[in-house]
Amino acid sequence: MSEPPVDPTTTEAWARLAALADGFVPDLRSWFADDPGRVDRLTFTAGDLHVDLSKNLLGEQVLDALLALGEEVGLAARRDAMFAGEHINVTEDRAVLHTALRRPAGEPLEVDGQDVDADVHEVLRRVYDFADRVRSGAWTGVTGQRIRTVVNIGIGGSDLGPVMAYEALAPYRQDGLQCRFISNIDPTDAAQKLAGLDPATTLFIVSSKTFGTLETLTNARLCKAWLLDGLRAAGAIGDDDADAVARHFVAVSTALDKVAAFGIDPANAFGFWDWVGGRYSVDSAIGTSLVVAIGPERFAELLAGMHAIDEHVRTADPAANVPALMGLLNVWYVNFLGAQTHAVLPYAQLLHRFPAYLQQLTMESNGKGVRWDGTPVTTETGEVFWGEPGTNGQHAFFQLLHQGTLLVPADFIAVADPAYPLTDGDTDVHGLFLANFFAQTKALAFGKTADEVRAEGTAEAIVPARVFEGNRPTTSIMAPALTPSVLGQLIALYEHITFTQGVVWGIDSFDQWGVELGKQLAQQVAPAVAGDAEALAEQDPSTSALISYYLGHRDR
Ligand code: F6P
Repeated sequence: MSEPPVDPTTTEAWARLAALADGFVPDLRSWFADDPGRVDRLTFTAGDLHVDLSKNLLGEQVLDALLALGEEVGLAARRDAMFAGEHINVTEDRAVLHTALRRPAGEPLEVDGQDVDADVHEVLRRVYDFADRVRSGAWTGVTGQRIRTVVNIGIGGSDLGPVMAYEALAPYRQDGLQCRFISNIDPTDAAQKLAGLDPATTLFIVSSKTFGTLETLTNARLCKAWLLDGLRAAGAIGDDDADAVARHFVAVSTALDKVAAFGIDPANAFGFWDWVGGRYSVDSAIGTSLVVAIGPERFAELLAGMHAIDEHVRTADPAANVPALMGLLNVWYVNFLGAQTHAVLPYAQLLHRFPAYLQQLTMESNGKGVRWDGTPVTTETGEVFWGEPGTNGQHAFFQLLHQGTLLVPADFIAVADPAYPLTDGDTDVHGLFLANFFAQTKALAFGKTADEVRAEGTAEAIVPARVFEGNRPTTSIMAPALTPSVLGQLIALYEHITFTQGVVWGIDSFDQWGVELGKQLAQQVAPAVAGDAEALAEQDPSTSALISYYLGHRDR
């Protein structure tokens, strides 16, 4: 049984932070002008990541108090308990061992009687072997043709990680082999993703940790029917479906019995374990579609990148431990300066799904109102994570970041070497792109005073509208290039930031009970939607009226 969480609000560090926040007046202009060492002191390295915290709203005292808070809530001990496989997922009584998925082979780790090292590397070997066969054309469909499209069917953690990484690592994909991702139970998703595909050259990966998710199983059935109908119409198969399903369907799950019940040969199933949370599973067999796309070698680099950050988290001094610092900084913003949202702004088009990926990681992990011992949280928890790639965001929501009244800490992410180094005459377009990154973080930090606006000859009446207050906090994260390793490092960085915040708040960051009620009610409401009058009568008046509207307007 886990120790009850320390109430952070009772710590001495919390009192110090509250005192520092009282009447806190940030002044990045002066802090930079008066302290030539600020940037060096607040710039850190984790793996290949260069992380500049200097444009954040903190000085030495806040930093000291945040580090003290980490100590007082027992951050290091909880981290060690996680790495050791203790059951820190208290409400589900499970270990939390996504970090074990990326450990090099041969480092023994036994948890709850399981040889984790052997199991992880055995599944990896099978996934790699499968991916190699698809990539080489050795794995064929039922007509003997090689596979051209791999369709991952999954949702949440069984979709967001693979699709995000597939997009991010586009330059590493094998030519002539594409992946598509079906997640939504809205049949439009399957209809659009299947459009133009040839069943004979399409292979489906049904990815579901529980193999009980309504969306995924519905889409899997839909795809199975599409496959068999298509093959039959082409005269490729007779009445016997089994061979076609075996050659065109594989599965990834922790529930291999349910995979078999669905009709997928267990020989074509890749397992993982209950100690891998869905939103922490891109580095498990859930990443199979990605392995097919980029190949085992590149996937191994992604794992190595994640492991490098795990090692950093495990061994770096707290004062230089980047994920811990970033997590503690988020606590400062949420609990002391009143921030409710956090922007993630990749200046890398390939990372366009990274904010969506982080939404599940952070909000499903820390959007909780009770602590791991069942008692209510003692302070605000969670942040709404959101974002879009720059520079698109600049022409959409940056107005609010620059001049709005809400405090929105923002992470800017960029790489030095672009995947596609295009030039426009003599202009290095990627350089121009990054000039925007640098300019935006500068504008947000230092703003523009009324005198500076006046000096530009602005009419007095509109001076106030053109003033930028500055002191809008940003973290700048840079890396040499968006390699598989760097992507792995970014993912692990945010996993550990999320962990840090969860520990401070005393939250079990690894359960997700908050998604259950909606699932239960969908099952209860479904008969009413299907026209069952009795079930309709049991609904509340608003729900009943909405269903009636639907029933009255469909098939028009
Ligand atoms: O409903 C939330 C959730 O349980 C996520 O935590 C998970 O990633 C997703 O559904 C999909 O679950 P599964 O992989 O079991 O289909």
